[in-house]
Amino acid sequence: MKITVIGTGYVGLVTGTCLAETGNEVVCVDVDKVKIEKMRDGVVPIYEPHLDVLFERNIKANRLTFTTSLDKGLEHGDIVFLALPTPEDEDGSADLSYVLGVAEEIGKKIKDYKVIVDKSTVPVGTAEKVNATISKNASCDFDVVSNPEFLREGYAVDDFLKPERIVIGASSEKATKLMERLYSPFVRSGNPIIVMDEKSAELTKYAANSFLATKITFMNEIANYCELVGADVDKVRAGMGSDSRIGKRFLFPGIGYGGSCFPKDVKALQKAGADANYDFKILEAVIGVNSKQKTILLPKIENHFNGNLSDIKIAIWGLAFKPETDDIREAPSIDMMNALLEKGASLSVFDPEAMPNIKAKFGDKLHYASSMYEALENADSLLICTEWSIFRTPDFNKIKSLLKEATIFDGRNLYDVQLMQKEGFNYTSIGRKEIK
Ligand code: UDX
Repeated sequence: MKITVIGTGYVGLVTGTCLAETGNEVVCVDVDKVKIEKMRDGVVPIYEPHLDVLFERNIKANRLTFTTSLDKGLEHGDIVFLALPTPEDEDGSADLSYVLGVAEEIGKKIKDYKVIVDKSTVPVGTAEKVNATISKNASCDFDVVSNPEFLREGYAVDDFLKPERIVIGASSEKATKLMERLYSPFVRSGNPIIVMDEKSAELTKYAANSFLATKITFMNEIANYCELVGADVDKVRAGMGSDSRIGKRFLFPGIGYGGSCFPKDVKALQKAGADANYDFKILEAVIGVNSKQKTILLPKIENHFNGNLSDIKIAIWGLAFKPETDDIREAPSIDMMNALLEKGASLSVFDPEAMPNIKAKFGDKLHYASSMYEALENADSLLICTEWSIFRTPDFNKIKSLLKEATIFDGRNLYDVQLMQKEGFNYTSIGRKEIK
C-alpha cells in the first residue's frame, strides 16, 4: 500500500519505518530540512533500540523515503498518517494547531480519495474537527480515522510490530477495511483490531495512559505509607500483583512517572473533563501526588546531611525519564537536580544515553562524568533516578572506595535492602526499610 506519514517525531518515525517493514511504500514528510537530510543519509534522529536496523533495511529497499514537500507526500499516500505534535497549552489542554494546520493544507491539496489517520494523541472530538477543516476546501472524497498509538519509548519497534491491540475509530466501512488490511500483518498472533467510533478511540488513549499513571501513583502512595508503618512495599506489591484483576505490571514505586505521554495526557484529560463540566478528582490527585513524589527523597537527603547541602557533592546515576531512552521530558531527575542545586549541592551526573540532552538544559551547572564510576569520585553520596540495567549489579566495593561515605539514595529500588545492610551502606529507597 502507499502510505504517507506527516511528522517524523517518535511516533511518526516508528510508524513509517515499521509500515515499510511489511512491504508498504512509505513517504515521511517533515518541515525540518536538516532532519530530512540526515534521515536520507540513513541517520536515525532518535535513540530507539532496533529502529536503526529496520531503518537502514527499508531505505535500501527504497520503501522508506523522506521529503520536506507536503505536496509530494500527499500525492503519494492512499493512507495519510498525521503524527504531529500536540504540545501542552498553558492551561494543560492539547494544542491542535499543528494537526489542524496540516488538515487545512490537506483539504486544499488532495485530488483523490484518501484516508486521513490521526495517530497523535488528540482530545475527543479532534477527528470531527479534522474532518470539518479538510471539508472546507476538499474537492474529493476522504475519510478521517482515529488510530491512537500505544507504543512505549525504548520498546517502540517491538510494540509496533507486535501490538496487544490496534484501536481504530472510524465510521466509514471503506476506511475501516483499508486500515484492517494495513494492520493485518501485525496481528497474526490473534491480538484484536478493535473498531469503534472516532470519539471512543480518541478517549481510549487518554483513559489507558491516565489509568496507568494512576496505578503507578497509587503504588507510590502505598510506598510512602509503608515507610510510616514499617511495611515493605516490595512484599505488598508482590501480594497485590498476583491478583490477576490487578496484574503485576506498572506497580513499581519510585520517584514518579515522567516522559512525553503520561504527564501531558493526564493533564489534558483532566482539563478536557473540566471543559465538559466534569471534575476528574482522581486525575487532579494523581497530578499533585506525582509532582510531590519527584522530590520525595530531598528531605531525606537534607536530613542525612544535617540540613546543609552547601558543601555536599551528590553523584547521580540515571537522568532519562526511564531506561532505554535519551528522553528527559518531565524526568524526575530534573526536579531532583533543580532542588539539590537550589540547596547549594554540587552534582556529578551520569546517564548512558541522556547526557547530551541534560547538557543542553543544564549547561555548566553540573559536572558531566564519563562513566558511572567517575561520577562517584569525591562525591558524598549517590542518588539513583533511573533504573538502567547497568546500575543493577554494580561493584559495591568500588562504590564504597570512591564515595566519601557509603550512602545511597535509591529512587528506583534497585537493590535488595538486606544486601545493602550486609555491604555496609546507608541505604534509603522508596517504601522500604531505611538502613542507617
Ligand atoms: C507510555 C505508555 O506506556 C504508552 O502505552 C504510551 O503510548 C506512551 O506513554 P512511555 O512514556 O514510553 O509510554 O513509558 P512507560 O514505560 O509507560 O513509563 C512511563 C513512566 O512511568 C516512566 O517515568 C516510568 O519510570 C514510570 N513507571 C512505569 C513507574 O514509575 N512505575 C512503573 O511500575 C512503571
